[in-house]
Amino acid sequence: MGILLSRLIHDWKPTATRPVYKSLYQYLRECIHSGEVVAGSIIPASRKLAVALSISRNTVNQAIEMLVSDGLLESRPGAGTFVSSGLDETVLKNARLIQEQDAKTPAISHRATEWLNVHRSKKVGLNAKAFAPGKPALDRFPFDIWARLLSRRWRLSGPSLAMAEDVKGYDLLRQHIARHLQASRGGQCDPDQIIITSGAQQGLDIIARVLWEEGDVIVTDDPSFPGISGVLSGAGVRQLTLPIDDEGICLEGLEQDHKIKSFLVTPSRNYPLGVSLSLARRMELLKTARAHEAWVVEDDFDCDFRFDGPPLSSLQSVDGDGRVIYVGTFSRILFPALRLGFIVAPKQLVPTFEAAKSFMDGHASIVHQAALADFFEEGYFHSHLRRMKKLYQTRRAFLVDWISRDLNDDLYVMPSDGGLHICVLFKQQRNDVTFAQKLAENGVIVRPLSPFYKREKKKFGLVMGFAGYDEEELVKALVIVKKYLNL
Ligand SMILES: Cc1ncc(COP(=O)(O)O)c(C=O)c1O
Repeated sequence: MGILLSRLIHDWKPTATRPVYKSLYQYLRECIHSGEVVAGSIIPASRKLAVALSISRNTVNQAIEMLVSDGLLESRPGAGTFVSSGLDETVLKNARLIQEQDAKTPAISHRATEWLNVHRSKKVGLNAKAFAPGKPALDRFPFDIWARLLSRRWRLSGPSLAMAEDVKGYDLLRQHIARHLQASRGGQCDPDQIIITSGAQQGLDIIARVLWEEGDVIVTDDPSFPGISGVLSGAGVRQLTLPIDDEGICLEGLEQDHKIKSFLVTPSRNYPLGVSLSLARRMELLKTARAHEAWVVEDDFDCDFRFDGPPLSSLQSVDGDGRVIYVGTFSRILFPALRLGFIVAPKQLVPTFEAAKSFMDGHASIVHQAALADFFEEGYFHSHLRRMKKLYQTRRAFLVDWISRDLNDDLYVMPSDGGLHICVLFKQQRNDVTFAQKLAENGVIVRPLSPFYKREKKKFGLVMGFAGYDEEELVKALVIVKKYLNL
């Protein structure tokens, strides 16, 4: 019996974690790389190997074919399969080097180090218990209709969806977004100004890459969404945070000699406090941006769920200078994993954003865009939005009433005109991070408020999502919150 065959019989065992052919391939590859089986050695016939190892001949052939494709084995017609004669010591040494566990490699980039340092809360999972923020009422989303629209698109459009023509995205979807923004936010935009992105997060990243240089100063709300800090860190810019009061971002502390490149703000609702930017402040912000010759990025992640009236006009709709870049998302109205959002760019920036998008990921996946266009076209979008608005308003009122009635000594509910979560402040001094940890150990998910702040002056409290939970689930979680507040 040859050396290879006896080694295989004694040493090799299929692993549970990978298919048998892969495990055999890996084993033989290691034997060749380590030099144990030298160039020119013959490989036993597949029938013989299959019998000796009690596996199918097909499995053996799959492993052998992969090694032939790698160039480690060669078939000589009529003679059999051999370890390739062209494998000299240098090739094998290089292959061995790749496998070294402690091989020295360069450090990760400064940008990635910053990303690791930015606080980012864990993603909300499907089964996350109350009160995970940002989770819509997924059990109310019409997935049957969505599935029908998707499959109809493939059936009817097939090949025409297989090659996208426009980096900016699917034309019909961009038309519907433009119409929706005009009707609901007073937005001034042409479908040609819209670039479909992978969520608002990518929209912000494209803006950062196109408009900012390292060291530029970018003004943001404090507190703000950690994904914003992630984008700023990735771009190597300086984040200048300004506090939020009950009218939104306070521009008072800003000096004219601060050289500001952009303002990145959430006028319809600050995340997480829920405060909307007042009309007077909107005007002040645009005036200040003009004085600084700065861009204004309007992150409008949450505008559609305003319960106290129709959505407020967007900043973009009152911008006379063409300096506001609007960012929107479908994560909250539809579902977060859809990863569809958009930028409305001032006309002069469209070609540059298009170029940036093409180098980032080509374009967003077309079939979901086409299905979403149909979702608009056939009226599902607006009826779903209307239904969710009503549902969330009821859920919010239930949660606020419960807290005001049962937890009034401990919690103050921040006023807010909508959204998918509320923010509550502790009336007594408490550490919100440890309190949230304690609740998490007991199956209740809340976000502590203070880590959203960058400045020293923080508020302490909890961010409580309500949209994805019915009254029973909310009460179950509230009872636990009550218990730990009273401990
Ligand atoms: C203020 C803000 N901006 C942007 C995003 C990112 O949204 P998307 O899921 O569309 O990337 C979020 C998500 O929660 C957010 O809260």
